[in-house]
Amino acid sequence: MARLIVTLTLLVTLTGCTLSQVASVKGSAADAALSRTRKQVRMLDDIYKTTVVLITDKYVHGKDDFPAGSAAVALFEAVEKNGWHKVRLLDVAGDPIRNKNTAKDPFEKAGVAALKKGESYFEEVASKNGKQQLRAMTAIPVVSKKCIMCHENYKDAKAGEAIGALSYTLAVE
Ligand code: HEC
Repeated sequence: MARLIVTLTLLVTLTGCTLSQVASVKGSAADAALSRTRKQVRMLDDIYKTTVVLITDKYVHGKDDFPAGSAAVALFEAVEKNGWHKVRLLDVAGDPIRNKNTAKDPFEKAGVAALKKGESYFEEVASKNGKQQLRAMTAIPVVSKKCIMCHENYKDAKAGEAIGALSYTLAVE
């Protein structure tokens, strides 16, 4: 009888340990996936912004040239259509050239409010159809005098102030 009790106690303890180990392995795999996704956002943000600044610098000389912003919007449509991720170019300053480039849902509206307060990054981990998504917004300041050529309202922006944003939705995997 005593042996049975010892065996049972051991079994219960071992199962408990295994279960909690499984839970913590699962937890750390989820943490790792989330930090990989955050890193992806940082990488994409750097590539997209560097490209827009380069195009503006080298190719956009007058108001009639094809804007890097329009090229970015076309690129973002292709990226989403090809199933990679979703990214939108948004207005924060309050006077967009295209009305479609405005915050659409509660996440984006909260993000615009946070960026207006001076935050440079805003995020939310959401769940869609049982799958985790990272939603993230990063600030766009007026990076060149050329921006004002087409966006007159940017002339009043302070250095570093967010006049726009990129809004990302990436699967956490
Ligand atoms: C040659 C004109 C031109 C220049 C220069 C230009 N933009 Fe734009 N920008 C546009 C147009 C046109 C759109 C609308 C793009 C679309 O939706 O097709 C736009 C859209 C945007 C948007 C989205 C909100 C809106 O107004 O629709 C942001 C933010 C933005 N531009 C930031 C910038 C920044 C920052 C710079 C400087 C690096 C810049 N732009 C330079 C023409 C320009």
